[in-house]
Amino acid sequence: MDSPPALELTGLTKHYDDGTVALEGFDLTVPDGAFFGLLGPNGAGKTTLISAVCNLIRITSGDVRVFGVPADDLLARSWVGLAEQDINLDRFLTVEETLIYHGGYFGMEKRDAVERAHEMIDVFDLRSKKDVRTPKLSGGMRRRLLLARALMHRPRLVILDEPTAGVDFELRQELWRYIRKLHEGGTTILLTTHYLEEAEELCEEIALIRGGRLLARDSADGLRAAYDAGSLADVYVKAMSPT
Ligand SMILES: Nc1ncnc2c1ncn2[C@@H]1O[C@H](COP(=O)(O)OP(=O)(O)OP(=O)(O)O)[C@@H](O)[C@H]1O
Ligand SMILES: [Mg+2]
Repeated sequence: MDSPPALELTGLTKHYDDGTVALEGFDLTVPDGAFFGLLGPNGAGKTTLISAVCNLIRITSGDVRVFGVPADDLLARSWVGLAEQDINLDRFLTVEETLIYHGGYFGMEKRDAVERAHEMIDVFDLRSKKDVRTPKLSGGMRRRLLLARALMHRPRLVILDEPTAGVDFELRQELWRYIRKLHEGGTTILLTTHYLEEAEELCEEIALIRGGRLLARDSADGLRAAYDAGSLADVYVKAMSPT
């Protein structure tokens, strides 16, 4: 039996209230189990697309499905784990509370949530900060907690909106390693990044977005061939330059 794609966008259009056209007639299918990258300049529509997938915004028109289920269905929401671009942690909660509350929000049993929280705390090396409130964490620790929180409820699709922005070399390597492991375990990954080498290193397929439209989607090799370019950076420059 064919499993439905992790993500299926059909004619996705989002016009914000002030008239900004963030996405226009956007079609995209991401297969179950893919490691998929979204690349595009500031304001291209990447975060808007992610917000539509997570049902955080009201879309203007189109259809968004997560593993075959409409994105505004609670089931769809429960299958997605999102680490947002903006670090939005509750400043009154400790590391442990942040994770356990999130588990509760997604309907996890208390015991399971506590166990999973401790697992995440170990995986992301936050043990010594377990009882520390989030404003007292370093920037990199906040990123790690954000990722741990996104993974708490064992989502089938993990969306990472610029997870390595402002992250040091060592932590970036660590995050890469962990995200790869997740992917090997069958989790679908959707990643946005402005680091082209990151997209090239991690993603099996990449979508290039500009001005709310899909320009191309292919493997890094496929994109290089299609744009007759030597590197992904060359592809990017060629794709993004207005002609
Ligand atoms: N709440 C909002 N109201 C009005 N316009 C918005 C809102 N949120 C985003 N936009 C606009 O929609 C467009 C797409 O923004 P979006 O955040 O999706 O881009 P992005 O690709 O994530 O960019 P970045 O790489 O900078 O994160 C931009 O023109 C942005 O200013
Ligand atoms: Mg963004």
